[in-house]
Amino acid sequence: MSPPLRILGIETSCDETAASVILRDESGKGHILGDVVLSQLEEHSAYGGVVPEIAARAHVEALDTLIEEALLRAGVTLADIDAIAATSGPGLIGGLIVGLMTGKAIARATGKPLYAVNHLEGHALTARLTDGLSFPYLMLLVSGGHTQLILVKGVGDYERWGTTIDDALGEAFDKTAKLLGLPYPGGPAVERAALAGNPERFNFPRPLVGDARLDFSFSGLKTAVRQAAQSLEPATDQDIADICASFQRAISRTLKDRVGRGLKRFKAEYAGVERPALVVAGGVAANQILRATLQELCDKDGFAFIAPPLSLCTDNAAMIAWAGAERLAAGMAADGLDVAPRSRWPLDSQAQTLLGSGKRGAKA
Ligand code: KG4
Ligand code: ZN
Repeated sequence: MSPPLRILGIETSCDETAASVILRDESGKGHILGDVVLSQLEEHSAYGGVVPEIAARAHVEALDTLIEEALLRAGVTLADIDAIAATSGPGLIGGLIVGLMTGKAIARATGKPLYAVNHLEGHALTARLTDGLSFPYLMLLVSGGHTQLILVKGVGDYERWGTTIDDALGEAFDKTAKLLGLPYPGGPAVERAALAGNPERFNFPRPLVGDARLDFSFSGLKTAVRQAAQSLEPATDQDIADICASFQRAISRTLKDRVGRGLKRFKAEYAGVERPALVVAGGVAANQILRATLQELCDKDGFAFIAPPLSLCTDNAAMIAWAGAERLAAGMAADGLDVAPRSRWPLDSQAQTLLGSGKRGAKA
């Protein structure tokens, strides 16, 4: 038993401005008391991607009001808050500065501790907020900026087992959509188009399948999609649907192999874990084919498949507040007000940066 903790979370690392108040009760269970997310999708969609300068300005305009709204919805004031948790990396530096400075200002004005939270740690610990999952477990993070298989051993204790050596999975979806003339963001558009398509028509490559490492690669797949589209020019709606369906089929096969190996490694290294679990996070977790693939894989290997609600898989501040609560409850020291934001900040400090990965910045 530990005292209940109320934490204010702030998230501004990419194109969502978010604030949240969560409660970690005496038994360690998490409750979201107030949660607001403002997406900047409209500001960026004309450019086909996130524009850092526009993102930073939009965070400045919205953040104060969102924090007020989160407190209001939670029915608390700053006096009731035990600590402030603000994302301080990885991500777009302009947005990180806005969120972290706001967190520092509140900490300074109220005298409450500040936790500078790694955004990836927020994703990694979400399954403990939603499902009370125990350590250790495996997490697949698939977003616009990251594709990583991470072993979550404890608060602040992570091992990166695999990462992309080129494009992130969400990026592959977005680029495929762009070259097929589908709207941004590409993931939902590709998934929708694929519904009417034939997944057998194109035999797209499945990079790294069979490789003993647990890394991912998606740039070859994107090139194959480009070549298929060019060979059909002008592509009909049916051609586009077939390409999208075949693209998703290749991804599903790739994940089966890569993540399947990860599950086997987990079983070998953690044979004593009674209920092994795989958690998925990131925007691509919305994809139904991906979910079905992971569910099937987990069923086969005796893993529980945990997919938190989509609003907590994509960027939000509840996960940042929760990461702060976990750090505070574990007795980890708060950060000084001189803490600096970091555009790059790997969760696993031992992990090597892989050549070509994270080209789109450290967006998570
Ligand atoms: O985690 P997220 O919301 O934002 C960051 O990357 O920070 O992920 C966005 C990514 C985009 O690349 C988007 O195309 C992809 O998630 N995505 C999807 C789907 N919905 C969003 N990819 C595949 N299928 C979807 N249904
Ligand atoms: Zn993220």
